[in-house]
Amino acid sequence: MDSIELLTLDHQHVWHPCSQMKDYESFKPLPVAKAQGCYIHLSDGTKIIDAISSWWCKLLGHGHPRLKQALINQSEKFEHVLLANTTNETIVLLTKQLSTLLPTLDKVCYASDGSCAIEIAIKMSIQARQILGEYQRTKFITLANSYHGETIGALSVSNIDRYRNIFKPILFQPCVLSSIPYVSTTNDPLWNDCSIYWTEIEKKLSEYASTTTALIVEPIVQAAGGMKIYSKDFLYRLRKWTKENNIYLIADEIMTGFSRTGKLLACQHADVIPDFLCLGKNLTAGWLPLSAVITHHDIYHIFYDDYEKGKSFLHSHTYAGNALAASVALEVLTIIKEEKISDQARLLGEHMLTAMLEIAYDTNKLDHVRGIGAMVAADLICHDHHRRLGYEIYQAAVKRGALLRPLGNTIYWAPPLNMNKETLDQLKKITLDAIRESV
Ligand SMILES: Cc1ncc(COP(=O)(O)O)c(C=O)c1O
Repeated sequence: MDSIELLTLDHQHVWHPCSQMKDYESFKPLPVAKAQGCYIHLSDGTKIIDAISSWWCKLLGHGHPRLKQALINQSEKFEHVLLANTTNETIVLLTKQLSTLLPTLDKVCYASDGSCAIEIAIKMSIQARQILGEYQRTKFITLANSYHGETIGALSVSNIDRYRNIFKPILFQPCVLSSIPYVSTTNDPLWNDCSIYWTEIEKKLSEYASTTTALIVEPIVQAAGGMKIYSKDFLYRLRKWTKENNIYLIADEIMTGFSRTGKLLACQHADVIPDFLCLGKNLTAGWLPLSAVITHHDIYHIFYDDYEKGKSFLHSHTYAGNALAASVALEVLTIIKEEKISDQARLLGEHMLTAMLEIAYDTNKLDHVRGIGAMVAADLICHDHHRRLGYEIYQAAVKRGALLRPLGNTIYWAPPLNMNKETLDQLKKITLDAIRESV
């Protein structure tokens, strides 16, 4: 199919995710022919750097040969059999590995997309309270600027007006903590000590202590909310407070999980073990949809009883624990260990932060440069609030060879963690030129 026909058919029938479809009249969707490593190859022969890891999931880049082989091997056995009433070696081996990510978290419940994992954590935390007779504990606490997905429960506990407001009439309303100790890097004094914020936060929390079932956080990095980084001490204190008040902690590591922040899990920055750990995206390094909720024995046993007692967690997704996805995930975990991917992320991140700071210095158009692990971000200085500067820069960068897709006017890089220095240098130049052209 030639690209004119492709784009015509696309425009007639494809409703793209998270898009104003009219935008595609003036700037067409990019026709992808193949993708390899950090690059997406377009049908006209050009290639662009995937600077955002295709929505933060291509941990090991595109087309990793070992992941391809894992997929082929599994497909020769079987591709999918429902996980209710059956088991298989692939899922058991993967589950065994996931059970060792954090101490005590050894019960793994599978879903497909990240949002489904959040729904599971929300529902499990509510059902546990119902079984325990703690009927007053029906509320959730969330953080300002948080994002946990698009399904109704996940959107309810999110706090980004752009996605949430229109659906308000059908969403439940959590308590929102708004004074968050944000930092630019781990060198910020607030990173280790956020006590000056805590008194006010604790006062707000205490109002909800007896009616809350769970507090949900994106540990350390709030991604869709603008790549904001907060104090590890804040996360530590939230965990301590939730424990002291019999409130579950849900850690949404769907974006941060598997080394993005320079530790395997972002919770590890604060030595925190949540009650529910939600994983997705990078679990299969962006090959296939697979997500997981990992919890501990105490929660699991609240549900464990004779069927007639009605305590079963009757929640299912057709592709929960899909064998093809599980086989890839198993290989992802092996590669992360063998290739010390967290170390690679930290090293890459240092270069990324330096590069973004240099761009800020050279252009004078970036504010609040921040970074942790292999994620850096900065806010474009733009005094015209109606201007879609981020979108203009996206277009300018694509023409030069990088897929940036800023979040509003926040520009960021979250590339595959094994990106090399040469590609980073290229990305730096493209970003610099795109900013210069647009502002
Ligand atoms: C922190 C976080 N939670 C949940 C989700 C939702 O995951 P999915 O898009 O796979 O449903 C996302 C997606 O970007 C995310 O960043």
